[in-house]
Amino acid sequence: MELWTLLLLRLLHLQLGVSVPLPPPSDVSISSFNMEHSLSFLPGPQSPDHTRFTIQTLRLSRRKPWRSVAACSELTVGQTCNLTRVFRDPFQSYQARVQAFTSSQTSNWTVSGVFQPLTDTVFGPPGLSVSGCGNCLLLQLTPLTTGGLQQHKQLRDLYRNLDIQVKRTRDGAQFVLSVPYTEHTVISYLQTGVEYCVSVRVSSLFTSTSLYSQPQCVYTSPPPPGLTAVLMVFGLVGALCALGLLFIGLVIFRGGRSFRRRRLLTALSVCL
Ligand SMILES: *[C@@H]1O[C@H](CO)[C@@H](O)[C@H](O)[C@H]1NC(C)=O
Ligand SMILES: *[C@@H]1O[C@H](CO)[C@@H](O)[C@H](O)[C@H]1NC(C)=O
Repeated sequence: MELWTLLLLRLLHLQLGVSVPLPPPSDVSISSFNMEHSLSFLPGPQSPDHTRFTIQTLRLSRRKPWRSVAACSELTVGQTCNLTRVFRDPFQSYQARVQAFTSSQTSNWTVSGVFQPLTDTVFGPPGLSVSGCGNCLLLQLTPLTTGGLQQHKQLRDLYRNLDIQVKRTRDGAQFVLSVPYTEHTVISYLQTGVEYCVSVRVSSLFTSTSLYSQPQCVYTSPPPPGLTAVLMVFGLVGALCALGLLFIGLVIFRGGRSFRRRRLLTALSVCL
């Protein structure tokens, strides 16, 4: 029924020049990753193929009119609008709106929800490399360096903390540490010769979401075989000493000659 009506209206439009209203865009939304903001939208139902779209933005704290985004004044279906520069103050609240137009018509505007860069952005993880240092792990981070973040040098101060998830491979035992953000961090008091998997994320004072890195698995120190060898050497020396003491006891008991006794004592001093 509805389709017929629309077709009829289109026909009228073509033959008599009666205007069918151009449907407004739908699903206007702003997504943001590492402070890079992007607006997307869908065309309204039955939009003609040659429809174009234009974007305007508003800074909510100022009593100023909507402003056009020069780079996004003639988008086609499927194109997005990069709002990184337009929404550059992380502490502000913004809105955007989208309008469809053809050579002869414009649609109503469709307005986005309120967008706050700092709380709505998603922080990706920093680069991470991990190495063992005995009973500890050494973490080295490479900071996030996307275009969005480079614009905001002060953001380095906003993600104050680093959440570190440590998981022991053997039994899955795990804990999470939250430490001040630095590029070098040491996790101490771990077991030696044991494998742990580490992943990290940045966390800010704000409610933004952040993602954990892929886990990196390393041993705190070379794994057990080396340790066993050392223990075996110690064990062997101990056993020899015990035998030696037993022997010297026998010699003393039997009252052997004194120079032999002295030589034995010298040899056994290694054990003491
Ligand atoms: C455009 O907005 C006006 C007023 O809000 C409304 O009456 C009209 O139906 C809208 N047009 C379309 C095509 O949605
Ligand atoms: C969006 O703009 C920012 C700042 O100009 C730029 O660094 C970034 O690469 C752009 N993103 C895309 C997807 O083009």
